[in-house]
Amino acid sequence: MIHMFQPSVGTEELAAVGEVFESSWLGYGRRTKAFEQEFADHIGVPAEGMLFVNSATSALGLTMELLELGPGDEMVLPSVSFVANANTVAATGARPVFCDVDPHTLNASVADIEAVLTPRTKAVTLLHYGGLPGDVVAVAELCRERGITLVEDAACSVGSRVDGRACGSFGDISVWSFDSRKIITTGDGGMIYVRDPELARRAHRLAYHGMQDRGAFAAMSNNPQRWWDQEIHEIGRRLIGNDLTAAIGRIQLRRLPSFIQRRGEIAETYDRLLAPYPGIRRPPQPPEGHVSTNYFYWVQLDPRIRDDVAGDLLQRDIYTTFRYPPLHRAPLYGSDAVLPGTDQAAAATLLLPLHQALTDEEAQRVADELIASVEKRTLRQAA
Ligand SMILES: Cc1ncc(COP(=O)(O)O)c(C=O)c1O
Repeated sequence: MIHMFQPSVGTEELAAVGEVFESSWLGYGRRTKAFEQEFADHIGVPAEGMLFVNSATSALGLTMELLELGPGDEMVLPSVSFVANANTVAATGARPVFCDVDPHTLNASVADIEAVLTPRTKAVTLLHYGGLPGDVVAVAELCRERGITLVEDAACSVGSRVDGRACGSFGDISVWSFDSRKIITTGDGGMIYVRDPELARRAHRLAYHGMQDRGAFAAMSNNPQRWWDQEIHEIGRRLIGNDLTAAIGRIQLRRLPSFIQRRGEIAETYDRLLAPYPGIRRPPQPPEGHVSTNYFYWVQLDPRIRDDVAGDLLQRDIYTTFRYPPLHRAPLYGSDAVLPGTDQAAAATLLLPLHQALTDEEAQRVADELIASVEKRTLRQAA
């Protein structure tokens, strides 16, 4: 089976985990702090605002707490978003308000977002679809003008850039995911960056039982005679990462440039092989100055044949999928939004396998099988 996603973990990660075992310190400690520092350096933001947590979903839940979102508030997000984006909003009693996306990029434009802002809008989430940077400069400007918080979901955009600046460095709060399907993985894990230093300190407290973060190995108390005393400031949760997974993350981060390079090569191979076929629309090229991680490689097909083509490929041991099924169509949220760009994208889009371990031969096989299936299904449609 050719998989959609596949982690690249090997001997270096194993050695790093072995070192953690030998140190006998598996929990939150100096490796976690080092990972936060290195990731902050990679994004180009101060490390004080960076926190390694156990998933991006935890980071999103924490975001909603930091925003003090509640009944009567609205948060805007693209309908083509991961389910946790809407669930973490709805769980607070606030209303997730879904905006449209461009049918080709699957990113929300400034106009898409502006169209659904109301006086109750407290925050906007901008997703960089499949690692392709969204219109983040203009959206950040819009949010600043309106006094609305911008949350960047950079879960798939760990190396995406706009004019040299990392995705995730534009928002007031940003999240990344390191789950097992992501470009760099810690098994499960995520990062949250909180720009405002006071709010960042609150994020640290809320992520660990409401206690002040004192850094790796530090006593919980200010009192040197009773280091076991606790300073509990508010009700918190238990969302922090640990040294075992951070050790894996540090290696993965070091390997990231080679991962992104390889993903770019595979995307170029698909582009080249699929270019002669007008029935297979390729993903957009990022504009000048924008760098994509190529987390997703998506093609767009005649909606009448898309599902059958996916079925044909599965029969040939090639797994494809579509992310993210539109949330405005999920009955849970009771949305009556009319989003034609989203519906168009959801009916036509298919993600092809793309991971850094995919070989050129496998990419060729995926393209060959896709072309054969599209040709066969198109002929049947015409008959
Ligand atoms: C865009 C996006 N945001 C958030 C998440 C949640 O990440 P995690 O699995 O780390 O909770 C995902 C996971 O697939 C995602 O794709």
